[in-house]
Amino acid sequence: LVNHFTPKVLAGRSVLITAGPTFEAIDPVRGITNRSSGKMGFAIAQACERAGARVTLVAGPVALPTPAGVERIDVQSAQAMLDAVLPRATGHEVFIATAAVADWRPAHCAEHKIKKDGSGQTPTLAFTENPDILATVAALPNPPYCVGFAAESEKLLEHAQAKRARKRIPLIVANLGPATFGQDDNALLLVDAEGARELPRAPKTELATQLVAELALRLNARTT
Ligand code: CTP
Ligand code: CA
Repeated sequence: LVNHFTPKVLAGRSVLITAGPTFEAIDPVRGITNRSSGKMGFAIAQACERAGARVTLVAGPVALPTPAGVERIDVQSAQAMLDAVLPRATGHEVFIATAAVADWRPAHCAEHKIKKDGSGQTPTLAFTENPDILATVAALPNPPYCVGFAAESEKLLEHAQAKRARKRIPLIVANLGPATFGQDDNALLLVDAEGARELPRAPKTELATQLVAELALRLNARTT
Protein backbone atom coordinates (compact mmCIF):
# COMPACT_ATOMS: atom_id res chain seq x y z
CA LEU A 1 0.00 0.00 0.00
CA VAL A 2 1.46 3.33 -1.05
CA ASN A 3 0.41 6.11 1.25
CA HIS A 4 0.69 9.30 -0.78
CA PHE A 5 0.19 11.32 2.40
CA THR A 6 3.29 9.99 4.18
CA PRO A 7 4.86 13.06 5.79
CA LYS A 8 8.20 13.75 4.10
CA VAL A 9 10.05 14.12 7.39
CA LEU A 10 13.37 13.12 5.78
CA ALA A 11 13.05 15.25 2.63
CA GLY A 12 16.47 16.30 1.36
CA ARG A 13 18.30 13.86 3.63
CA SER A 14 20.35 10.77 2.72
CA VAL A 15 20.52 7.51 4.64
CA LEU A 16 22.94 4.57 4.35
CA ILE A 17 21.68 1.31 5.87
CA THR A 18 23.22 -2.12 6.45
CA ALA A 19 20.85 -5.07 6.73
CA GLY A 20 20.70 -8.84 6.95
CA PRO A 21 23.37 -11.28 8.10
CA THR A 22 26.88 -11.66 6.78
CA PHE A 23 28.25 -14.95 5.43
CA GLU A 24 31.82 -15.97 6.20
CA ALA A 25 33.21 -18.68 3.93
CA ILE A 26 34.94 -21.79 5.25
CA ASP A 27 35.45 -23.29 1.78
CA PRO A 28 33.68 -22.83 -1.60
CA VAL A 29 30.56 -24.64 -0.38
CA ARG A 30 30.40 -23.90 3.36
CA GLY A 31 30.36 -20.99 5.72
CA ILE A 32 29.11 -19.55 8.99
CA THR A 33 26.46 -16.90 9.34
CA ASN A 34 24.24 -15.07 11.80
CA ARG A 35 20.48 -15.34 12.21
CA SER A 36 18.84 -12.35 10.54
CA SER A 37 16.00 -12.15 8.03
CA GLY A 38 16.82 -8.54 7.11
CA LYS A 39 13.14 -7.62 7.55
CA MET A 40 13.72 -4.78 10.03
CA GLY A 41 16.50 -3.19 7.95
CA PHE A 42 14.56 -3.45 4.70
CA ALA A 43 11.46 -1.98 6.40
CA ILE A 44 13.58 0.94 7.64
CA ALA A 45 15.02 1.47 4.15
CA GLN A 46 11.50 1.58 2.73
CA ALA A 47 10.26 3.93 5.47
CA CYS A 48 13.21 6.31 4.93
CA GLU A 49 12.58 6.38 1.16
CA ARG A 50 8.87 7.05 1.66
CA ALA A 51 9.79 9.85 4.05
CA GLY A 52 11.67 11.54 1.22
CA ALA A 53 15.26 10.43 1.85
CA ARG A 54 17.79 9.19 -0.70
CA VAL A 55 18.52 5.66 0.53
CA THR A 56 21.44 3.28 -0.06
CA LEU A 57 21.00 -0.24 1.33
CA VAL A 58 24.00 -2.56 1.77
CA ALA A 59 22.52 -6.03 2.20
CA GLY A 60 23.95 -9.37 3.24
CA PRO A 61 22.38 -12.57 1.87
CA VAL A 62 18.61 -12.24 2.40
CA ALA A 63 15.49 -13.35 0.52
CA LEU A 64 13.76 -9.97 0.29
CA PRO A 65 12.74 -7.69 -2.59
CA THR A 66 14.42 -4.29 -2.93
CA PRO A 67 12.14 -1.50 -1.67
CA ALA A 68 11.06 0.88 -4.46
CA GLY A 69 13.42 3.78 -5.06
CA VAL A 70 16.22 2.33 -2.90
CA GLU A 71 19.75 1.73 -4.24
CA ARG A 72 20.81 -1.75 -3.14
CA ILE A 73 24.30 -3.24 -2.96
CA ASP A 74 24.55 -6.97 -2.19
CA VAL A 75 27.50 -8.34 -0.22
CA GLN A 76 28.41 -11.58 1.54
CA SER A 77 31.11 -11.10 4.17
CA ALA A 78 31.62 -8.50 6.91
CA GLN A 79 34.77 -7.30 5.16
CA ALA A 80 32.83 -6.86 1.88
CA MET A 81 30.12 -4.99 3.82
CA LEU A 82 32.74 -2.64 5.27
CA ASP A 83 34.29 -2.17 1.79
CA ALA A 84 30.85 -1.19 0.42
CA VAL A 85 30.01 1.10 3.36
CA LEU A 86 33.26 3.00 3.92
CA PRO A 87 33.54 4.91 0.61
CA ARG A 88 29.83 5.86 0.87
CA ALA A 89 29.63 6.73 4.57
CA THR A 90 30.46 10.42 4.56
CA GLY A 91 28.32 10.89 1.44
CA HIS A 92 25.25 10.22 3.58
CA GLU A 93 23.87 12.24 6.48
CA VAL A 94 22.71 9.21 8.44
CA PHE A 95 24.11 5.70 8.89
CA ILE A 96 21.79 3.00 10.29
CA ALA A 97 23.51 -0.31 11.10
CA THR A 98 20.84 -3.00 11.34
CA ALA A 99 23.03 -5.82 9.96
CA ALA A 100 23.73 -8.87 12.10
CA VAL A 101 27.44 -8.87 11.29
CA ALA A 102 29.36 -12.08 12.08
CA ASP A 103 31.78 -11.14 14.85
CA TRP A 104 34.35 -13.68 13.65
CA ARG A 105 35.31 -15.26 10.32
CA PRO A 106 37.33 -18.40 9.65
CA ALA A 107 40.99 -17.35 9.62
CA HIS A 108 41.50 -19.20 6.35
CA CYS A 109 39.07 -19.99 3.53
CA ALA A 110 40.05 -23.27 1.85
CA GLU A 111 40.49 -22.94 -1.92
CA HIS A 112 38.72 -26.25 -2.53
CA LYS A 113 35.94 -28.11 -0.75
CA ILE A 114 37.26 -29.73 2.41
CA LYS A 115 36.78 -33.50 2.04
CA LYS A 116 36.21 -36.20 4.63
CA ASP A 117 39.25 -38.45 4.60
CA GLY A 118 37.44 -41.48 5.99
CA SER A 119 39.31 -41.46 9.29
CA GLY A 120 36.49 -39.84 11.27
CA GLN A 121 38.77 -36.88 12.09
CA THR A 122 36.96 -33.52 12.25
CA PRO A 123 38.43 -30.25 11.00
CA THR A 124 39.28 -27.52 13.51
CA LEU A 125 38.35 -23.95 12.66
CA ALA A 126 40.50 -20.99 13.71
CA PHE A 127 38.81 -17.57 13.77
CA THR A 128 39.77 -13.95 13.13
CA GLU A 129 37.74 -11.02 14.49
CA ASN A 130 35.82 -9.08 11.86
CA PRO A 131 36.02 -5.28 11.63
CA ASP A 132 33.31 -3.38 13.53
CA ILE A 133 31.59 -1.53 10.68
CA LEU A 134 29.52 0.76 12.88
CA ALA A 135 32.40 1.74 15.18
CA THR A 136 34.63 2.34 12.12
CA VAL A 137 32.07 4.70 10.55
CA ALA A 138 31.42 6.47 13.87
CA ALA A 139 35.17 7.12 14.22
CA LEU A 140 35.49 8.82 10.78
CA PRO A 141 36.15 12.54 10.68
CA ASN A 142 32.75 14.24 10.14
CA PRO A 143 30.81 10.99 10.55
CA PRO A 144 27.16 10.63 9.55
CA TYR A 145 24.59 10.54 12.39
CA CYS A 146 25.06 6.91 13.48
CA VAL A 147 22.25 4.65 14.64
CA GLY A 148 23.14 1.22 16.02
CA PHE A 149 20.98 -1.80 16.67
CA ALA A 150 21.41 -4.24 19.52
CA ALA A 151 19.69 -7.60 19.82
CA GLU A 152 20.12 -8.74 23.40
CA SER A 153 18.81 -11.79 25.22
CA GLU A 154 18.75 -10.05 28.64
CA LYS A 155 19.34 -6.69 30.44
CA LEU A 156 18.21 -4.74 27.38
CA LEU A 157 18.68 -1.18 28.67
CA GLU A 158 21.98 -1.88 30.41
CA HIS A 159 23.58 -3.57 27.39
CA ALA A 160 22.22 -0.92 25.01
CA GLN A 161 23.64 1.94 27.07
CA ALA A 162 27.03 0.24 27.30
CA LYS A 163 27.09 -0.46 23.55
CA ARG A 164 26.12 3.12 22.72
CA ALA A 165 28.99 4.42 24.82
CA ARG A 166 31.52 1.88 23.53
CA LYS A 167 30.76 2.61 19.86
CA ARG A 168 30.45 6.36 20.51
CA ILE A 169 27.15 6.67 18.66
CA PRO A 170 24.29 9.08 19.43
CA LEU A 171 21.42 6.56 19.15
CA ILE A 172 21.04 2.83 19.69
CA VAL A 173 17.90 0.79 19.08
CA ALA A 174 17.60 -2.29 21.25
CA ASN A 175 15.36 -5.31 20.90
CA LEU A 176 15.03 -8.66 22.60
CA GLY A 177 16.31 -11.53 20.46
CA PRO A 178 16.15 -14.30 19.42
CA ALA A 179 12.35 -14.25 19.98
CA THR A 180 11.92 -11.63 17.24
CA PHE A 181 14.20 -13.20 14.60
CA GLY A 182 12.36 -13.78 11.33
CA GLN A 183 9.07 -12.54 12.85
CA ASP A 184 7.00 -9.75 11.35
CA ASP A 185 6.56 -8.11 14.79
CA ASN A 186 9.05 -6.55 17.16
CA ALA A 187 9.28 -4.07 20.04
CA LEU A 188 12.06 -1.50 20.18
CA LEU A 189 13.80 0.51 22.88
CA LEU A 190 15.44 3.74 21.67
CA VAL A 191 18.37 4.81 23.83
CA ASP A 192 20.11 8.17 23.38
CA ALA A 193 21.66 10.91 25.52
CA GLU A 194 18.18 11.96 26.71
CA GLY A 195 17.27 8.51 28.01
CA ALA A 196 15.15 5.60 26.79
CA ARG A 197 11.88 5.53 24.84
CA GLU A 198 9.93 2.37 24.08
CA LEU A 199 8.16 1.66 20.81
CA PRO A 200 5.71 -1.10 21.83
CA ARG A 201 5.20 -4.34 19.94
CA ALA A 202 3.98 -3.73 16.40
CA PRO A 203 4.63 -4.94 12.86
CA LYS A 204 8.21 -4.18 11.77
CA THR A 205 6.89 -1.95 8.95
CA GLU A 206 4.95 0.15 11.49
CA LEU A 207 7.95 0.33 13.85
CA ALA A 208 10.13 1.45 10.94
CA THR A 209 7.79 4.40 10.29
CA GLN A 210 7.84 5.34 13.99
CA LEU A 211 11.62 5.05 14.08
CA VAL A 212 11.91 7.36 11.06
CA ALA A 213 9.78 9.96 12.87
CA GLU A 214 12.01 9.67 15.97
CA LEU A 215 15.11 9.96 13.77
CA ALA A 216 13.76 13.08 12.04
CA LEU A 217 13.14 14.73 15.44
CA ARG A 218 16.74 14.06 16.49
CA LEU A 219 18.21 15.28 13.17
CA ASN A 220 16.13 18.47 13.33
CA ALA A 221 17.24 19.08 16.93
CA ARG A 222 20.95 18.91 16.08
CA THR A 223 22.75 22.20 16.39
CA THR A 224 25.47 21.32 13.86
N1 CTP B 1 28.09 -4.05 14.09
C1 CTP B 1 28.87 -3.73 12.99
N2 CTP B 1 29.99 -4.48 12.72
C2 CTP B 1 30.32 -5.53 13.51
C3 CTP B 1 29.52 -5.86 14.62
C4 CTP B 1 28.40 -5.10 14.89
O1 CTP B 1 28.57 -2.77 12.28
N3 CTP B 1 31.41 -6.23 13.22
C5 CTP B 1 26.91 -3.21 14.39
C6 CTP B 1 25.58 -3.90 14.22
O2 CTP B 1 25.08 -3.72 12.91
C7 CTP B 1 24.72 -3.19 15.27
C8 CTP B 1 25.69 -2.84 16.36
O3 CTP B 1 26.99 -2.84 15.76
O4 CTP B 1 24.19 -1.98 14.77
C9 CTP B 1 25.68 -3.72 17.54
O5 CTP B 1 25.91 -5.06 17.13
P1 CTP B 1 26.04 -6.19 18.23
O6 CTP B 1 26.35 -7.49 17.59
O7 CTP B 1 24.84 -6.10 19.13
O8 CTP B 1 27.29 -5.63 19.06
P2 CTP B 1 28.77 -6.13 19.21
O9 CTP B 1 29.59 -4.91 19.36
O10 CTP B 1 29.16 -7.07 18.11
O11 CTP B 1 28.73 -6.88 20.62
P3 CTP B 1 28.23 -8.36 21.02
O12 CTP B 1 27.83 -9.11 19.78
O13 CTP B 1 29.38 -8.97 21.71
O14 CTP B 1 27.04 -8.13 21.94
CA1 CA C 1 28.04 -8.95 17.53
